[in-house]
Amino acid sequence: MPGLVIVGAQWGDEGKGKVTDLLAERADAIVRFQGGNNAGHTIVRDGEEFKFHLIPSGILYPDKACVIGNGVVLDPRILLGEIDGLRRRGIDMNNLKISANAHLIMPYHVLLDTAGEVKLGKLSLGTTRRGIGPCYADKALRLGIRVQDLLDEKILRAKIRTALGPKQQALRELSVQRRKLRKEAGEGSVAEGAIEDAPDPRIDLHTMTEEHVNFGHRLEPHIADTSRLCWDVLDAGKTVIFEGAQATLLDLDHGTYPFVTSSNPIAGAATVGAGVGPTDIDEVWGVAKAYATRVGAGPFPTELEDATGRYMLEKGHEYGTTTGRERRCGWMDLVALRYAVRLNRMTSLAITKLDVLSGLDTLRVAVRYRSREGALLDTFPYHQSILHSATPEYEELPGFSADLQECRSADELPPEARSYLDYIAEFVGVPIRLVGVGPGRDQVVWLGD
Ligand code: IMP
Repeated sequence: MPGLVIVGAQWGDEGKGKVTDLLAERADAIVRFQGGNNAGHTIVRDGEEFKFHLIPSGILYPDKACVIGNGVVLDPRILLGEIDGLRRRGIDMNNLKISANAHLIMPYHVLLDTAGEVKLGKLSLGTTRRGIGPCYADKALRLGIRVQDLLDEKILRAKIRTALGPKQQALRELSVQRRKLRKEAGEGSVAEGAIEDAPDPRIDLHTMTEEHVNFGHRLEPHIADTSRLCWDVLDAGKTVIFEGAQATLLDLDHGTYPFVTSSNPIAGAATVGAGVGPTDIDEVWGVAKAYATRVGAGPFPTELEDATGRYMLEKGHEYGTTTGRERRCGWMDLVALRYAVRLNRMTSLAITKLDVLSGLDTLRVAVRYRSREGALLDTFPYHQSILHSATPEYEELPGFSADLQECRSADELPPEARSYLDYIAEFVGVPIRLVGVGPGRDQVVWLGD
């Protein structure tokens, strides 16, 4: 398995971190290829819990290269916080390598993300407000600051100065608009020249430059030509895992736009975000929960706003690792999963959190949608208006009541749980190779070899 991509098959939070951690045992390098600290994954190792936002899951293996690829957007303050936290817990950080070409989330990106969401009001996307969208926008505008810029104060200052002008203007305009809206809503008048109009010290050119030069000194030992690193591992016939963040239905091009993230979490993007060729990829593993969840706004056909949804939320501890928000929960959507399987050309599936479904008498899986006009849809609709109003049609399967947390092999799973997995695999046409039955690293059932 020299080049193996791991992607989320739903709307994120499928438990990719745990699957990556398990597969990483057989790999030589683990590379994150997109997203930023909007992601969050938790790994439980020997009863100890590790939460990461930026650092790839492989960091717990001292003998493997652990890479933040060029496609990632990184907030240096957050990254250094994670590095320090892991060092304090005795984790060796020497193998962490950061692409010199990765873009930096600057303080103005975070402010713009929040200001943009506030401006949208009820129409907001529910972003994580970590500055992801504005940072990728600057990358495309060629106004981005890259990791390598941290190593040259003169270049860094010039680039921040160029990038800053339009941000200050945009933030000023957004604050004026907000004030106007508040006045119209009769929420008291905010005087001209009030605190909102004062220059924000977080985006002062001098302060930002000094701070980031300092970040550069601290990150320098980790900065590397990470594409070359991947090529060397692959060319030696060894294995690289490309770890995606977020998931297929949050993909900027193929997800439920505009309720998506600003990068491409699908498998094809691993080549761009890590700097390897398509033929370097041999396997694509998709990770899906045994049910479905979504954080933030946007269509979610199988969403349950009832006691069953609440059951999934509570039993599955469905609260965001990054923002702590409650996740929306619903039944497994096989129309969406089949779409994700094809889009990523998955070769294997991992189904996580099957244990959460125990105790439900009947399990439902969406097998098609019905449009508002009554048409039956077997495929994921490309038109957002159709998806927004589509209602799912379900197949009902028998539930199971046994606690699965101690199961370690297929024959220890109740027959109903096995039938549920078989139904999914058959429907989407991809074998399920791994099943999660609890949060611990060992709480998995391997199927097949
Ligand atoms: P952004 O990535 O912060 O711009 O947020 C855009 C959308 O993606 C929002 O609906 C977020 O809730 C969602 N999102 C971003 N990262 C994750 C993640 O790691 N898991 C689940 N949803 C995410």
